[in-house]
Amino acid sequence: MGKLYAISGVTGMTGNELVRQILVDGSTDHIIGFDNFYASSIDTVADHIDDDRFEFFEYDINNKDQMHDFEVRVSDLKGSYEELIYINCAAVVHTEHFYHVYETFETNVEGMNSFLEQAIRVGAQKFINCSTSEVYSMNSWNENGGVKESDYITMAIAEHSQRTSYATGKLLTEFFMKDAVDTGKIKGCSIRFANVYSKDERYPKHIIPFIINSFRDNGKVVLLENSRKNKRTFLNNYDSCSAVLALAATDSALDGTVYNVATDEEISIIDLAKLCASKMGIDNPVIEFSGYRESDPERRLLSTDKIKTRTSWRPAVTLDRGLDECITNYLKR
Ligand SMILES: NC(=O)c1ccc[n+]([C@@H]2O[C@H](COP(=O)([O-])OP(=O)(O)OC[C@H]3O[C@@H](n4cnc5c(N)ncnc54)[C@H](O)[C@@H]3O)[C@@H](O)[C@H]2O)c1
Repeated sequence: MGKLYAISGVTGMTGNELVRQILVDGSTDHIIGFDNFYASSIDTVADHIDDDRFEFFEYDINNKDQMHDFEVRVSDLKGSYEELIYINCAAVVHTEHFYHVYETFETNVEGMNSFLEQAIRVGAQKFINCSTSEVYSMNSWNENGGVKESDYITMAIAEHSQRTSYATGKLLTEFFMKDAVDTGKIKGCSIRFANVYSKDERYPKHIIPFIINSFRDNGKVVLLENSRKNKRTFLNNYDSCSAVLALAATDSALDGTVYNVATDEEISIIDLAKLCASKMGIDNPVIEFSGYRESDPERRLLSTDKIKTRTSWRPAVTLDRGLDECITNYLKR
């Protein structure tokens, strides 16, 4: 008997890679997942759509009737598997949507909490909540090996930027998660990912596809003024998903708390653009600056000691290799 996974947002960047990592050849696990295609399409799971171990529904996490039908189907399947694990990936995620307070609240906060309540009702053993490193807001780094999960945080507020609504909403989901575990209803944890990217990414405004597409289409890239100083780490979606599965497999780690999941390969955005250009065979790339984003931290550097101490997770994909895969894939299109 394998495990049964119930995954929201399953065709998104994290969800579709989870499908590939869970349904490796010979696995007896089963996935039941849904997505409303807000930011993805069925193409991302094309390689498993005819797999008997994968059931997909075009459902909206905010639609009560659809969520009821999903719950009934999970209940029907549950008895045939040794363990039921809920993973919440559905969210309004991308940068421009961060400013949409009503949408992010409905899907990211209310949707998460309803999905958690469903998991508890159907008797799931575990719930993994995808949160975000955006919660660190203005405290996104320090010089002592990166910001830790237990550090106090200083957030920008609505006076500074509506963008913070995304981060505060995600922070609230961490409280729901902790409460559910502390009151003995389920095991689980929240994960703060930092800047996940994928060679299959569909969203052209994310920084890596944006840089590569700009060089390809215009021979130059126009970055925000913030990029003159900003540095980031980038986490390949292979590694974000292997972290989800490592935590889900480690009962002792599912204590309701939060885990940073990131790499420590920090790079300035200018150097990222130069690196992409050199990999694309462009000497002396043209890099221009225009526009400014309020309340954008200059650095985002996370300590991952906690997850590394409690699980065997380590990031496996270097930025160098990940960028090679992105460039090969984006230029193929
Ligand atoms: N990508 C990153 O850099 C990053 C960083 C930190 C945290 N996260 C978190 O990781 C999780 C997964 O993000 P991702 O990178 O896979 O993003 P994604 O946008 O690729 O995936 C999210 C999926 O949720 C779906 N969705 C949105 N609204 C929905 C709704 N109402 N009902 C059903 N499905 C809905 C989208 O269509 C999409 O397929 C999210 O919780 C996100 O906040 C991502």
